[in-house]
Amino acid sequence: MAIPFLLRPVQITDAECLLAWRNDTVTREASHNQDIISLEAHIKWLSNSLKSDQRLLWIAEVDGIAVATCRADRLENAWELSWTVAPEARGKGIAYQMLANLVRCLDEPLVAQVKPDNIASIKVAERVGFVLDKQENGVLFYVYPTMFSITD
Ligand SMILES: CC(C)(COP(=O)(O)OP(=O)(O)OC[C@H]1O[C@@H](n2cnc3c(N)ncnc32)[C@H](O)[C@@H]1OP(=O)(O)O)[C@@H](O)C(=O)NCCC(=O)NCCS
Repeated sequence: MAIPFLLRPVQITDAECLLAWRNDTVTREASHNQDIISLEAHIKWLSNSLKSDQRLLWIAEVDGIAVATCRADRLENAWELSWTVAPEARGKGIAYQMLANLVRCLDEPLVAQVKPDNIASIKVAERVGFVLDKQENGVLFYVYPTMFSITD
């Protein structure tokens, strides 16, 4: 059953919870850059991101509590999405709900990179409608909609 939740833009006041989710062990294992990020570096990154038209950031909330985030980074002809659910909110289908809503709002092609051992994320991406385009350097490249393909 769908959990009622709100999708809103990230604000600078979300910095602390976004950093905690980013530095969570499971999130780091799923990321290209697995380093622990300092608060100072994170605030700088978030401030710049909020000013940029090359990046969009959302928070999903359930009952006023932040439970997940999604980032869209501008590519030449698409947005690249990446997502994280708060550690304490995982296992409830929240990533699917967040992404199913977001893909309906974004009217340009989307791509997502997922590591092959990230089964939960693969399932979420495929359930939302992403289709595997290619595997390169040990990473799965997903595209949405299906007629869109990444060119090298
Ligand atoms: C990956 C992540 C976003 C998934 O979020 P979630 O909403 O909690 O996902 P769920 O736990 O509800 O799992 C989604 C699906 O995968 C399935 N699943 C989860 N772990 C699984 C496993 N180890 N083996 C098989 N299936 C699994 C669930 O049963 C569910 O299937 P369903 O849609 O058929 O019910 C979340 O775990 C997370 O934030 N991880 C760290 C960051 C990350 O990996 N981000 C994505 C980078 S690409």
